Amino acid sequence: MRTKVTTTTLLKMKKKGIKITALTAYDYPFAKIIDKAGVDMILVGDSLGMIIQGKKTTLPVTMDEIIYHTSIVSRACEYSMVIGDMPFMSYHGSKDQAVINAGRFLKEANASAVKLEGGADVYDIINKISKAGIPVQAHIGLTPQSIHQMGGFKVQRDEERLINDALNVEKAGAFSVVLEGIPSLIASKITKKLSIPTIGIGAGVDCDGQILVLHDMLGFNNNKVPKFVKKFTDLNNIINQGLEKYINEVKTEIFPSKEYEYK
Ligand code: KIV
Repeated sequence: MRTKVTTTTLLKMKKKGIKITALTAYDYPFAKIIDKAGVDMILVGDSLGMIIQGKKTTLPVTMDEIIYHTSIVSRACEYSMVIGDMPFMSYHGSKDQAVINAGRFLKEANASAVKLEGGADVYDIINKISKAGIPVQAHIGLTPQSIHQMGGFKVQRDEERLINDALNVEKAGAFSVVLEGIPSLIASKITKKLSIPTIGIGAGVDCDGQILVLHDMLGFNNNKVPKFVKKFTDLNNIINQGLEKYINEVKTEIFPSKEYEYK
């Protein structure tokens, strides 16, 4: 049995300059493969809404839906640290409600931490949740839950604001911060300024670690993907080849052949 990654492991990795690997997952079979491969962190992201539920944004995802998916992912993980993503409006109503919702990820879904979007504006929320003993990963830069405020999925370039956000989330008690859709140079400066690990997505190579949406990096997504996504394989193609073969073999009675029959 391998030792599970914890917030302490991640801090040590940053100190030693060992890069942290992270991916999203939403189900048992993929989580099992990712965990076995040795990816350090699995985020059950609210990208669930777009990747799994076929919605246009992440906004409609509910607490119950993400708790359900997080509990499935947690069941598959021995090594990877599992982080549950707090959905839109699950932490803005009141700080007490935010703590109760964050607690559900640990109590009901066996996650080790939660992630939430925002910088200096969510200082008090991060502080309250982490003081309740729940590790919080912050998420700054391009924050998809604010898509309407940002006017779309746009790269964020306000250096002063980004640095201020990063310093604030660290001060509030976050154990790590996701830097999404920001120029590499700014991400590099932030990474040097913080003692907590930065996890980049579209933020360049100098972050302490990298995260990608699983279906994007596997080429298992028919939709347009952002510039920062590298397709490490082409699952769509592999699956299509298998499906074509299946259809052909059923139609031509090649399948099922004798070896797949009961006597
Ligand atoms: O929801 C998500 O998958 C995320 C990652 C892309 C960081 O927030």
